[in-house]
Amino acid sequence: MKENIFDKFMSQKTLFKNKEILRHDHRPNHLPHRNTEVEKMSYNLWEALKGHIPSNMTVYGVTGAGKTAVTDYICHHLKVKGEAIGRQVESIMVNCRQIDTQYRVLTHIGNMLLEDYENEEIPFTGWPTDRVFKELVRRMDARGGVFIVVLDEIDHLVRKAGDDLLYNLTSLNSSLKSARACVIGISNDLKFTDFLDPRVRSRLGQLDVLFRPYDAEQLQDILRKRADLALEADVVGPGVIELCAALAAQEHGDARCALDLLRISTEKAEFAGELRVNQGHVRAAQSQVEADQMNPVLATLPTQQKLVLAAILLNEKNGLRNVPTGQVYDIYRQACQHIRQNPLTQRRISGLISNLDMLGLITARTVSKGRYGRSKEINSCIPANVNPVEIMTAAEEDLASVFNSAYKHQSSL
Ligand SMILES: Nc1ncnc2c1ncn2[C@@H]1O[C@H](COP(=O)(O)OP(=O)(O)O)[C@@H](O)[C@H]1O
Ligand SMILES: [Mg+2]
Repeated sequence: MKENIFDKFMSQKTLFKNKEILRHDHRPNHLPHRNTEVEKMSYNLWEALKGHIPSNMTVYGVTGAGKTAVTDYICHHLKVKGEAIGRQVESIMVNCRQIDTQYRVLTHIGNMLLEDYENEEIPFTGWPTDRVFKELVRRMDARGGVFIVVLDEIDHLVRKAGDDLLYNLTSLNSSLKSARACVIGISNDLKFTDFLDPRVRSRLGQLDVLFRPYDAEQLQDILRKRADLALEADVVGPGVIELCAALAAQEHGDARCALDLLRISTEKAEFAGELRVNQGHVRAAQSQVEADQMNPVLATLPTQQKLVLAAILLNEKNGLRNVPTGQVYDIYRQACQHIRQNPLTQRRISGLISNLDMLGLITARTVSKGRYGRSKEINSCIPANVNPVEIMTAAEEDLASVFNSAYKHQSSL
C-alpha cells in the first residue's frame, strides 16, 4: 500500500486520554473553589423550584474566573431538579458577545421557546422590537413556569447598544400573566453597572455575586483534576502543573489560560515524540500563547498607530531606550515622509502613544524632570518571540519603506 502521511502518527503513543476535557466548552462535574458562589446563587434560584421569582443577579469577575461554568452548572442542576419534582423551570443562556443586539437576543430567546405545533419563527430582522417582546411574553405565558434568562458577557452588549434590553427584560414580570422570569447578567467588566441607567442598575443588582480571580494554588487544584481525566497517567512531569498555574495566576488568575497552557504544552511534547510534558514545553506554550494574542493586535493597528510604534522600534534599533515623546515624534515625522503620509500633530501622537500603552505593546512612564516639567519614558515591551516589523509589514506592505529607510536621530538624550 502507498505511504500515507498519517502513518507516523498511527504508531505514536498519544499523551491525551480525552482531550475534550481540556476544551473551553467542556462542562466539568466539579468546580473546586467556587462553593461559596454556587451556594449563594443556588440558594436564590431555589425560589424557582418553589414557583416564586428569584432575585435578579449580577455576576462579575475577570475572564476565566469560572462565571460561565458555574452558572451553567447551576442551571443544569436546576433543570434536573425541576423535572424530578414536576416544576416547570427553564433557563435560557445567551452569549451577548455572539448575539449582540437587543433584537437578536429577544428573537433568540423567543425562538428557543418555540413549541413544535407553532411553526412561526420570529424572523431575524423586520419586526418592530416591541412586537418581538410581546411575542416573547406570549410564548412564556403559554408555557408557564419560571424562566431564568442568563445574559452572558452582557457588558459587551451594553457597551455597544445600551441598556434597553436589560430594561425590558428586567420588567418582564409586569407583562407576564402566568409565567415568571428572573434575569442573570454576567459581566467580565467590574465597572459594568456604571454604564446602566439607575433604574436598570437597581433592578438587575438585587443580588451581586463577585467571582474573585483564582490564586496559583487554586489553579493547581483545578488543573490537577482536569489533567487526571484528560491525560494519560504519568504524562505530567515535575513542576508542570505548578508552572502552568503560576503563569496563569500572573495573568490575572484565569483558569482558561491555565487550561490552555496545559493543553498546548502537552501537544508540544506529543508532537516532539516525547512521553512526558516538562517545564520547557510549558515555557514554549506560554510564548506561543503570547504571540497568538499579540499578532492580531499588531496586524490590525490603524496605519498611524503602526507608524508611531515603528518610530519607537526604530529608536530602539538605534540603541535608544527610555525615549521621550518628542524623540518618537521626530522619527515618526520622518517615517511619514518615507511612506508619503501627512504627519499628525505631536498632541495627537501623545494620544496614540497612550493607546499603544493600553494595548500592552509599549510602556510609557511619566517621569518628573524637576523644573523642566514632566516627560515620558517610552519603551516597547513586545515579547522576544514576536517580530513586530514582520507582522506589521505583512499586514501593510507599504510599511517596508518605513523600516528600510535611513533616519536622522537626535544625537544625544
Ligand atoms: N472551579 C473550576 N473548576 C474547574 N474548571 C473551571 C473552574 N473555573 C473555571 N473552570 C474552567 O475554566 C475555563 C474558563 O471558565 P469560564 O467559566 O468560561 O470563565 P468566565 O466565564 O469567568 O470567563 C472553562 O473551561 C471552565 O470549565
Ligand atoms: Mg464567560
